[in-house]
Amino acid sequence: MKTIDELLAEGVTGKRVFVRADLNVPLSGTAITDDGRIRAVQPTVEKLAAAGARVIVASHLGRPKGAPDPAFSLAPAAARLGELIGADVAFATDTVGESARATVAALTDGRVAVIENLRFNPGETSKDDAERGEFADQLAELADVYVGDGFGAVHRKHASVFDLPARLPHAAGDLIATEVGVLKKLTENVERPYAVVLGGSKVSDKLGVIDHLLERADRILIGGGMAYTFLKAQGHEVGSSLLQEDQIPAVLEYLKRAEDKGVEFVLPVDVVVCEQFPDLKAKAPTEHRTVPADAIPAGFMGLDNGPETNKLYASKLADAVTVFWNGPMGVFEHPDYAEGTRAVAQALVDSEGFSVVGGGDSAAAVRILGFDENAFGHISTGGGASLEYLEGKTLPGLAALED
Ligand code: 3PG
Repeated sequence: MKTIDELLAEGVTGKRVFVRADLNVPLSGTAITDDGRIRAVQPTVEKLAAAGARVIVASHLGRPKGAPDPAFSLAPAAARLGELIGADVAFATDTVGESARATVAALTDGRVAVIENLRFNPGETSKDDAERGEFADQLAELADVYVGDGFGAVHRKHASVFDLPARLPHAAGDLIATEVGVLKKLTENVERPYAVVLGGSKVSDKLGVIDHLLERADRILIGGGMAYTFLKAQGHEVGSSLLQEDQIPAVLEYLKRAEDKGVEFVLPVDVVVCEQFPDLKAKAPTEHRTVPADAIPAGFMGLDNGPETNKLYASKLADAVTVFWNGPMGVFEHPDYAEGTRAVAQALVDSEGFSVVGGGDSAAAVRILGFDENAFGHISTGGGASLEYLEGKTLPGLAALED
């Protein structure tokens, strides 16, 4: 993979450089609630601009249905990028149309533009190679060079991620280089003990990674909505908690494999329950209580790890030399159910080991809960991408950057 510094050494002054970023940031209306992904690509954009490139930043945001949808406009992200780099950032209101062509034509050396959400064009996510290829051809006309730096999207076989780099000289941006470097530390010659914390709502999203980690990790700690399928598989009633009955056979097999291999599988011993799912907007106090994980009353749903579980998990992380964490331990967006997630984040901060927070909700959680990002070894910008990397899959956006 060519690095951005190698690309700069070849000279980029006056060249139109297409940077495929992941500016898929959470929005509340048009307000960005976590700008971590924009800040993550900032160094690459600044390096290119400082070297005199004409920088075209492109990304998806959300999952619009292949047509323009103002709710998914990248305009707020473009404005934030401008604030961060301290320069005007032009914005094209389409992807490959008149606005994009005119915006790129008006770019001068060292200036930056953002084009509108790539997923406003059906070619971006199409499963049809020809349709994707056609969109990639149109994108290629906008640029001379391609820089892949949207780590959060490298697991997607999309036009701007997979097909476009095949059409232009290409290099990997600094963010991708950093992310891949970190993930290698979690997969090659891992320093032990290696503990993995997995949360989030659905166990079905984590099957591949559990399967892979059972061969590699020393401890796997489970939390979040997915924990209830494990508890049910162990024969406990889980009330009205999230449950994926159809995954129970898979979960039982994992528990058995963990036992055979001597991998410690740790489940909550107590949980915080409520009769209703809380209102995440109003965040009003709720009627909640802590119960043993094997005695969840009928009609109650588990929404967070309890204090005994928090202590147990902290003890399992204290001496870990390598830790990977993906997925919140509870409904952290509501203050009554944020402690489990906060406790895991705090344990990672307190640990002297190398801790990696794997993208998506867990990365947003550590920032929203007010932790200092620098207290962690690495906060990934890619939830799905880092999980797929750890599953050992070939990621289209990384493969495309190899020569
Ligand atoms: C993410 O949020 O994980 C990335 O931006 C990829 O988004 P996607 O799951 O909609 O492809």
